[in-house]
Amino acid sequence: MPNHNTEKQWTPKIVAFFCNWCTYTAADLAGVSRIKHAPNIRVIRVMCSGRVDPQFLLDAFAKGADGVLIGGCHPGDCHYIEGNYKCLRRFQLLQKMTTDMGIEPDRLRLEWISASEGDKVRVVVNDMVSKVTKLGPLGLPDKFKSWDEEMKIFEHSIEEKEVFEHV
Ligand code: FES
Repeated sequence: MPNHNTEKQWTPKIVAFFCNWCTYTAADLAGVSRIKHAPNIRVIRVMCSGRVDPQFLLDAFAKGADGVLIGGCHPGDCHYIEGNYKCLRRFQLLQKMTTDMGIEPDRLRLEWISASEGDKVRVVVNDMVSKVTKLGPLGLPDKFKSWDEEMKIFEHSIEEKEVFEHV
């Protein structure tokens, strides 16, 4: 008897910002070499990991990503000298901030992957997908909806309080 239960199993959405000069090339090499990594990753090419604005990460989460991965050149190899150090400093701050927001640290990851490390792309992506799968959906867009409602109630209660105080 065929199984008609077609309910799809949930898989996480991972947004990856890869530096053009190293990790993006490594991911390309992985593809050419048919190195298999999990398919649930959307790669965005940036010219340097230092170009990854903190807002990009927050927007990715806000738009429904369950995890964000940044890939850059190894320390000392950045084409723009110290873009990856800038990225590292921002990343440490962002990880603290997102943890305070209730986003688990495993949902945000920074890796140094050179152009020749195609297999490292596979290992990192698969490991991240596995960790985020265990955490489950982040669901930030839905959380935002309920935060909006909570804020409206809060705003309303403040307005009412102000009216009473001025009576
Ligand atoms: S050019 Fe790759 S991290 Fe700066």
